[in-house]
Amino acid sequence: MPEMVRITDVSPRDGLQNEPGSIPTNDKARLVELLVDALVDEVELTSFVSPKRVPQLADADDVLENVLPFKRPDVLYSALVPNEKGLGRLLSASERAGMPLVDKIALFTAASEEFNQQNTGASIAESIERFALVVRKARDNGLKVRAYISCVVRCPYQGDIAPEKVAEVVQKLSELEPDEIDLGDTIGAATPETIVAALDAARGANAWAESQDAETWVVHLHDTHGRAGDCVEAALDAGIRSFDGSAGGLGGCPFAAGPGERAPGNIATRTLIEYIHAKGYETRVNTDRLERASLFAQELVEQAQDQHFGGTGLG
Ligand code: HMG
Ligand code: MG
Repeated sequence: MPEMVRITDVSPRDGLQNEPGSIPTNDKARLVELLVDALVDEVELTSFVSPKRVPQLADADDVLENVLPFKRPDVLYSALVPNEKGLGRLLSASERAGMPLVDKIALFTAASEEFNQQNTGASIAESIERFALVVRKARDNGLKVRAYISCVVRCPYQGDIAPEKVAEVVQKLSELEPDEIDLGDTIGAATPETIVAALDAARGANAWAESQDAETWVVHLHDTHGRAGDCVEAALDAGIRSFDGSAGGLGGCPFAAGPGERAPGNIATRTLIEYIHAKGYETRVNTDRLERASLFAQELVEQAQDQHFGGTGLG
Protein backbone atom coordinates (compact mmCIF):
# COMPACT_ATOMS: atom_id res chain seq x y z
CA MET A 1 0.00 0.00 0.00
CA PRO A 2 1.43 3.41 -0.95
CA GLU A 3 1.98 5.75 1.98
CA MET A 4 -0.55 8.59 2.35
CA VAL A 5 0.40 12.26 2.30
CA ARG A 6 -1.79 14.87 3.96
CA ILE A 7 -2.99 17.91 1.99
CA THR A 8 -4.19 21.23 3.42
CA ASP A 9 -5.61 23.65 0.89
CA VAL A 10 -5.00 27.22 2.03
CA SER A 11 -6.54 29.01 -0.97
CA PRO A 12 -9.52 30.54 0.89
CA ARG A 13 -6.98 32.17 3.27
CA ASP A 14 -3.50 32.53 1.74
CA GLY A 15 -5.01 32.55 -1.75
CA LEU A 16 -7.51 35.33 -1.21
CA GLN A 17 -5.89 37.49 1.49
CA ASN A 18 -3.90 39.43 -1.06
CA GLU A 19 -6.60 40.07 -3.66
CA PRO A 20 -7.31 43.73 -4.34
CA GLY A 21 -10.98 43.44 -5.44
CA SER A 22 -13.90 42.41 -3.33
CA ILE A 23 -14.88 38.75 -3.25
CA PRO A 24 -18.39 38.00 -1.96
CA THR A 25 -18.64 35.77 1.11
CA ASN A 26 -20.91 33.37 -0.80
CA ASP A 27 -18.21 32.82 -3.41
CA LYS A 28 -15.60 32.13 -0.73
CA ALA A 29 -18.01 29.62 0.79
CA ARG A 30 -18.51 27.98 -2.62
CA LEU A 31 -14.74 27.57 -2.97
CA VAL A 32 -14.64 25.82 0.40
CA GLU A 33 -17.56 23.60 -0.64
CA LEU A 34 -15.65 22.54 -3.78
CA LEU A 35 -12.49 21.82 -1.77
CA VAL A 36 -14.41 19.71 0.74
CA ASP A 37 -15.99 17.88 -2.19
CA ALA A 38 -12.47 17.24 -3.58
CA LEU A 39 -11.60 15.59 -0.24
CA VAL A 40 -8.54 17.55 0.72
CA ASP A 41 -7.64 16.64 4.32
CA GLU A 42 -8.00 20.19 5.60
CA VAL A 43 -9.17 23.60 4.39
CA GLU A 44 -7.73 26.78 5.87
CA LEU A 45 -10.87 28.87 5.69
CA THR A 46 -9.91 32.44 6.53
CA SER A 47 -8.09 34.49 9.14
CA PHE A 48 -9.12 36.51 12.19
CA VAL A 49 -6.51 39.21 11.77
CA SER A 50 -7.00 42.97 11.77
CA PRO A 51 -9.53 43.84 9.00
CA LYS A 52 -7.63 47.08 8.48
CA ARG A 53 -4.47 45.15 7.61
CA VAL A 54 -6.18 42.42 5.55
CA PRO A 55 -9.52 43.81 4.35
CA GLN A 56 -10.18 40.89 2.00
CA LEU A 57 -10.74 38.57 4.97
CA ALA A 58 -12.78 40.98 7.09
CA ASP A 59 -15.79 38.67 6.68
CA ALA A 60 -14.08 35.79 8.56
CA ASP A 61 -17.03 35.24 10.93
CA ASP A 62 -19.52 35.09 8.05
CA VAL A 63 -17.32 32.72 6.03
CA LEU A 64 -17.26 30.28 8.94
CA GLU A 65 -21.02 30.33 9.34
CA ASN A 66 -21.55 29.93 5.58
CA VAL A 67 -19.33 26.86 5.27
CA LEU A 68 -20.83 24.98 8.20
CA PRO A 69 -23.36 23.10 6.00
CA PHE A 70 -20.53 21.61 3.89
CA LYS A 71 -18.52 20.29 6.85
CA ARG A 72 -17.54 16.63 6.79
CA PRO A 73 -15.99 14.98 9.84
CA ASP A 74 -13.05 13.77 7.75
CA VAL A 75 -12.17 17.22 6.36
CA LEU A 76 -10.75 19.52 9.02
CA TYR A 77 -11.48 23.24 9.05
CA SER A 78 -8.86 25.68 10.32
CA ALA A 79 -8.44 29.44 10.56
CA LEU A 80 -5.48 31.76 11.09
CA VAL A 81 -5.53 33.49 14.49
CA PRO A 82 -2.87 36.09 15.42
CA ASN A 83 -3.79 36.94 19.00
CA GLU A 84 -6.39 36.76 21.79
CA LYS A 85 -8.63 39.21 20.01
CA GLY A 86 -8.72 36.95 16.93
CA LEU A 87 -9.45 33.88 19.03
CA GLY A 88 -12.21 35.82 20.82
CA ARG A 89 -13.86 36.62 17.48
CA LEU A 90 -13.63 32.98 16.43
CA LEU A 91 -15.06 31.68 19.71
CA SER A 92 -17.89 34.22 19.64
CA ALA A 93 -18.83 33.10 16.14
CA SER A 94 -18.84 29.48 17.36
CA GLU A 95 -20.99 30.44 20.33
CA ARG A 96 -23.51 32.13 18.05
CA ALA A 97 -23.60 29.04 15.85
CA GLY A 98 -23.96 26.80 18.91
CA MET A 99 -21.06 24.59 17.82
CA PRO A 100 -17.33 24.78 17.10
CA LEU A 101 -16.83 26.26 13.63
CA VAL A 102 -13.23 25.08 13.19
CA ASP A 103 -11.14 22.13 14.36
CA LYS A 104 -7.83 23.95 14.48
CA ILE A 105 -6.31 27.40 14.78
CA ALA A 106 -3.12 28.43 13.03
CA LEU A 107 -0.78 30.86 14.77
CA PHE A 108 2.03 32.55 12.87
CA THR A 109 5.47 33.86 13.61
CA ALA A 110 8.66 33.98 11.51
CA ALA A 111 12.34 33.11 11.40
CA SER A 112 13.04 36.70 10.34
CA GLU A 113 12.72 39.57 12.84
CA GLU A 114 12.08 42.17 10.16
CA PHE A 115 9.37 40.13 8.44
CA ASN A 116 7.66 39.46 11.75
CA GLN A 117 7.69 43.18 12.55
CA GLN A 118 6.17 44.01 9.17
CA ASN A 119 3.63 41.21 9.40
CA THR A 120 2.54 41.44 13.02
CA GLY A 121 4.14 44.54 14.56
CA ALA A 122 5.98 42.35 17.08
CA SER A 123 9.35 40.71 17.55
CA ILE A 124 9.52 36.93 17.20
CA ALA A 125 9.83 36.54 20.99
CA GLU A 126 6.88 38.89 21.63
CA SER A 127 4.71 37.07 19.11
CA ILE A 128 5.38 33.71 20.75
CA GLU A 129 4.77 35.15 24.24
CA ARG A 130 1.36 36.34 23.00
CA PHE A 131 0.56 32.83 21.83
CA ALA A 132 0.74 31.22 25.29
CA LEU A 133 -2.70 32.33 26.42
CA VAL A 134 -4.18 31.82 22.94
CA VAL A 135 -2.97 28.20 22.91
CA ARG A 136 -4.34 27.53 26.38
CA LYS A 137 -7.78 28.95 25.49
CA ALA A 138 -7.83 27.15 22.15
CA ARG A 139 -7.07 23.84 23.88
CA ASP A 140 -9.76 24.53 26.52
CA ASN A 141 -12.14 24.82 23.59
CA GLY A 142 -11.02 21.54 22.05
CA LEU A 143 -9.08 23.11 19.17
CA LYS A 144 -5.85 21.80 17.72
CA VAL A 145 -2.97 24.22 17.17
CA ARG A 146 -0.76 24.75 14.14
CA ALA A 147 2.17 27.17 14.34
CA TYR A 148 3.56 28.64 11.13
CA ILE A 149 7.13 29.84 10.86
CA SER A 150 7.48 32.17 7.88
CA CYS A 151 10.66 32.93 5.94
CA VAL A 152 12.43 29.70 6.90
CA VAL A 153 14.83 30.10 3.97
CA ARG A 154 14.79 33.74 2.91
CA CYS A 155 13.15 36.99 3.98
CA PRO A 156 12.11 39.76 1.56
CA TYR A 157 13.70 42.32 3.92
CA GLN A 158 16.66 40.51 5.54
CA GLY A 159 17.78 38.10 2.80
CA ASP A 160 18.93 34.57 3.59
CA ILE A 161 17.88 33.06 6.90
CA ALA A 162 20.23 30.64 8.63
CA PRO A 163 18.80 27.24 9.58
CA GLU A 164 19.97 27.97 13.16
CA LYS A 165 17.41 30.78 13.30
CA VAL A 166 14.67 28.28 12.38
CA ALA A 167 15.89 25.98 15.16
CA GLU A 168 15.78 28.89 17.63
CA VAL A 169 12.15 29.62 16.77
CA VAL A 170 11.20 25.94 17.07
CA GLN A 171 12.85 25.89 20.51
CA LYS A 172 10.65 28.80 21.61
CA LEU A 173 7.52 27.32 20.04
CA SER A 174 8.14 23.92 21.61
CA GLU A 175 7.19 25.39 25.01
CA LEU A 176 3.66 25.68 23.62
CA GLU A 177 3.72 22.10 22.29
CA PRO A 178 1.79 22.86 19.11
CA ASP A 179 0.19 19.94 17.27
CA GLU A 180 1.91 21.04 14.07
CA ILE A 181 4.80 23.24 13.04
CA ASP A 182 4.46 24.49 9.48
CA LEU A 183 7.63 25.71 7.77
CA GLY A 184 6.81 28.50 5.33
CA ASP A 185 8.94 29.43 2.34
CA THR A 186 7.03 32.69 2.21
CA ILE A 187 8.63 34.13 -0.93
CA GLY A 188 9.28 30.93 -2.82
CA ALA A 189 13.06 31.16 -2.52
CA ALA A 190 13.75 27.61 -1.36
CA THR A 191 15.78 25.03 -3.22
CA PRO A 192 15.76 21.33 -2.31
CA GLU A 193 18.97 21.86 -0.32
CA THR A 194 17.80 24.91 1.61
CA ILE A 195 14.35 23.55 2.48
CA VAL A 196 15.87 20.30 3.76
CA ALA A 197 18.43 22.29 5.78
CA ALA A 198 15.58 24.26 7.37
CA LEU A 199 13.66 21.05 8.05
CA ASP A 200 16.64 19.31 9.58
CA ALA A 201 17.32 22.31 11.80
CA ALA A 202 13.66 22.40 12.91
CA ARG A 203 13.42 18.69 13.65
CA GLY A 204 16.73 18.68 15.52
CA ALA A 205 16.05 21.89 17.45
CA ASN A 206 15.69 20.25 20.88
CA ALA A 207 14.49 17.10 22.60
CA TRP A 208 10.83 18.00 22.04
CA ALA A 209 11.37 18.50 18.29
CA GLU A 210 13.37 15.28 18.01
CA SER A 211 10.58 13.35 19.71
CA GLN A 212 7.87 14.50 17.29
CA ASP A 213 6.62 12.16 14.59
CA ALA A 214 5.91 13.03 10.95
CA GLU A 215 2.42 14.38 11.77
CA THR A 216 3.95 17.41 13.48
CA TRP A 217 5.84 18.73 10.48
CA VAL A 218 4.23 20.54 7.55
CA VAL A 219 5.80 22.28 4.57
CA HIS A 220 4.21 25.39 3.03
CA LEU A 221 5.75 26.40 -0.30
CA HIS A 222 5.30 29.38 -2.56
CA ASP A 223 6.30 28.86 -6.18
CA THR A 224 8.02 32.05 -7.30
CA HIS A 225 10.93 30.50 -9.17
CA GLY A 226 9.39 27.20 -10.24
CA ARG A 227 11.38 25.23 -7.64
CA ALA A 228 8.49 24.35 -5.32
CA GLY A 229 7.92 20.95 -6.98
CA ASP A 230 11.60 20.03 -6.52
CA CYS A 231 11.29 21.09 -2.89
CA VAL A 232 8.25 18.81 -2.45
CA GLU A 233 10.32 15.88 -3.75
CA ALA A 234 13.19 16.69 -1.42
CA ALA A 235 10.87 17.14 1.57
CA LEU A 236 9.21 13.78 0.84
CA ASP A 237 12.65 12.15 0.72
CA ALA A 238 13.38 13.84 4.06
CA GLY A 239 10.25 12.25 5.60
CA ILE A 240 7.67 15.04 5.32
CA ARG A 241 4.11 13.70 4.90
CA SER A 242 2.04 16.89 5.16
CA PHE A 243 1.99 19.82 2.73
CA ASP A 244 0.00 22.97 2.04
CA GLY A 245 -1.16 23.93 -1.43
CA SER A 246 -3.54 26.47 -2.86
CA ALA A 247 -6.21 25.72 -5.47
CA GLY A 248 -5.27 27.37 -8.74
CA GLY A 249 -1.91 28.45 -7.28
CA LEU A 250 -3.46 31.58 -5.79
CA GLY A 251 -1.88 33.35 -2.95
CA GLY A 252 0.79 35.21 -1.12
CA CYS A 253 1.31 37.19 2.03
CA PRO A 254 0.60 40.92 1.41
CA PHE A 255 3.58 41.80 3.60
CA ALA A 256 5.95 39.66 1.51
CA ALA A 257 5.63 41.67 -1.72
CA GLY A 258 8.36 44.04 -2.87
CA PRO A 259 7.48 47.64 -3.84
CA GLY A 260 5.07 47.57 -6.82
CA GLU A 261 5.08 43.77 -6.87
CA ARG A 262 2.48 41.16 -6.06
CA ALA A 263 3.34 38.55 -3.43
CA PRO A 264 4.33 35.16 -4.85
CA GLY A 265 1.57 32.56 -5.18
CA ASN A 266 1.47 29.29 -3.26
CA ILE A 267 2.27 26.02 -4.96
CA ALA A 268 -0.90 24.93 -6.78
CA THR A 269 -2.53 22.01 -4.96
CA ARG A 270 -2.76 20.13 -8.26
CA THR A 271 0.99 20.54 -8.90
CA LEU A 272 1.73 19.50 -5.32
CA ILE A 273 -0.32 16.33 -5.74
CA GLU A 274 1.28 15.52 -9.09
CA TYR A 275 4.73 15.63 -7.50
CA ILE A 276 3.55 13.52 -4.55
CA HIS A 277 1.98 10.88 -6.81
CA ALA A 278 5.03 10.83 -9.09
CA LYS A 279 7.15 9.88 -6.07
CA GLY A 280 4.87 6.88 -5.40
CA TYR A 281 2.87 8.34 -2.50
CA GLU A 282 -0.92 8.66 -2.34
CA THR A 283 -3.30 11.41 -1.34
CA ARG A 284 -7.00 10.98 -0.91
CA VAL A 285 -7.79 14.01 -3.08
CA ASN A 286 -10.15 13.51 -6.02
CA THR A 287 -8.19 15.24 -8.76
CA ASP A 288 -11.19 15.83 -11.09
CA ARG A 289 -13.07 17.59 -8.34
CA LEU A 290 -9.95 19.50 -7.33
CA GLU A 291 -9.81 20.77 -10.91
CA ARG A 292 -13.30 22.24 -10.49
CA ALA A 293 -12.20 23.97 -7.29
CA SER A 294 -9.05 25.30 -8.99
CA LEU A 295 -10.96 26.72 -11.95
CA PHE A 296 -13.45 28.34 -9.61
CA ALA A 297 -10.63 29.83 -7.50
CA GLN A 298 -9.00 31.32 -10.58
CA GLU A 299 -12.33 32.73 -11.83
CA LEU A 300 -12.93 34.38 -8.47
CA VAL A 301 -9.61 36.13 -8.54
CA GLU A 302 -9.95 37.18 -12.19
CA GLN A 303 -13.37 38.68 -11.49
CA ALA A 304 -12.07 40.53 -8.45
CA GLN A 305 -9.11 41.86 -10.42
CA ASP A 306 -11.28 42.93 -13.38
CA GLN A 307 -13.56 44.74 -10.98
CA HIS A 308 -10.63 46.41 -9.22
CA PHE A 309 -8.47 47.26 -12.23
CA GLY A 310 -11.39 48.09 -14.55
CA GLY A 311 -11.21 44.98 -16.74
CA THR A 312 -7.52 45.18 -17.50
CA GLY A 313 -6.69 41.85 -15.91
CA LEU A 314 -3.95 41.86 -13.35
CA GLY A 315 -2.99 45.51 -13.59
P1 HMG B 1 -1.94 44.74 16.83
O1 HMG B 1 -0.84 44.26 17.72
O2 HMG B 1 -3.19 45.19 17.48
O3 HMG B 1 -1.33 45.92 16.02
O4 HMG B 1 -2.29 43.60 15.80
P2 HMG B 1 -1.76 46.64 14.64
O5 HMG B 1 -1.30 48.05 14.79
O6 HMG B 1 -1.21 45.93 13.46
O7 HMG B 1 -3.35 46.62 14.58
C1 HMG B 1 -4.10 47.53 15.29
C2 HMG B 1 -5.59 47.46 15.04
O8 HMG B 1 -6.01 46.12 14.71
C3 HMG B 1 -6.32 47.80 16.32
O9 HMG B 1 -7.54 48.42 15.92
C4 HMG B 1 -6.58 46.44 16.93
O10 HMG B 1 -7.64 46.46 17.84
C5 HMG B 1 -6.95 45.65 15.69
P3 HMG B 1 -7.71 50.02 16.01
O11 HMG B 1 -7.45 50.38 17.43
O12 HMG B 1 -6.70 50.62 15.06
O13 HMG B 1 -9.13 50.22 15.57
N1 HMG B 1 -6.78 44.21 15.85
C6 HMG B 1 -7.69 43.31 15.45
N2 HMG B 1 -8.88 43.44 14.86
C7 HMG B 1 -9.55 42.31 14.59
N3 HMG B 1 -9.07 41.06 14.84
C8 HMG B 1 -7.87 40.92 15.43
C9 HMG B 1 -7.14 42.06 15.75
N4 HMG B 1 -5.93 42.25 16.31
C10 HMG B 1 -5.71 43.57 16.36
N5 HMG B 1 -7.40 39.69 15.67
C11 HMG B 1 -1.90 41.78 14.25
C12 HMG B 1 -1.37 42.57 15.45
C13 HMG B 1 -0.94 40.64 13.98
C14 HMG B 1 -3.28 41.25 14.58
C15 HMG B 1 -1.99 42.72 13.05
O14 HMG B 1 -0.75 43.31 12.82
C16 HMG B 1 -2.44 42.01 11.80
O15 HMG B 1 -3.62 41.69 11.64
N6 HMG B 1 -1.50 41.79 10.82
C17 HMG B 1 -1.80 41.09 9.58
C18 HMG B 1 -1.03 39.81 9.55
C19 HMG B 1 -1.49 38.92 8.40
O16 HMG B 1 -2.64 38.59 8.28
N7 HMG B 1 -0.51 38.48 7.56
C20 HMG B 1 -0.81 37.55 6.53
C21 HMG B 1 -0.94 36.14 7.07
S1 HMG B 1 0.61 35.36 7.49
C22 HMG B 1 1.12 34.66 5.99
O17 HMG B 1 0.53 34.89 4.97
C23 HMG B 1 2.29 33.69 6.01
C24 HMG B 1 1.84 32.21 5.92
O18 HMG B 1 1.07 31.98 4.74
C25 HMG B 1 3.05 31.28 5.93
C26 HMG B 1 4.11 31.64 4.87
O19 HMG B 1 3.81 31.71 3.68
O20 HMG B 1 5.23 31.85 5.32
C27 HMG B 1 0.96 31.84 7.13
MG1 MG C 1 1.92 31.62 2.77
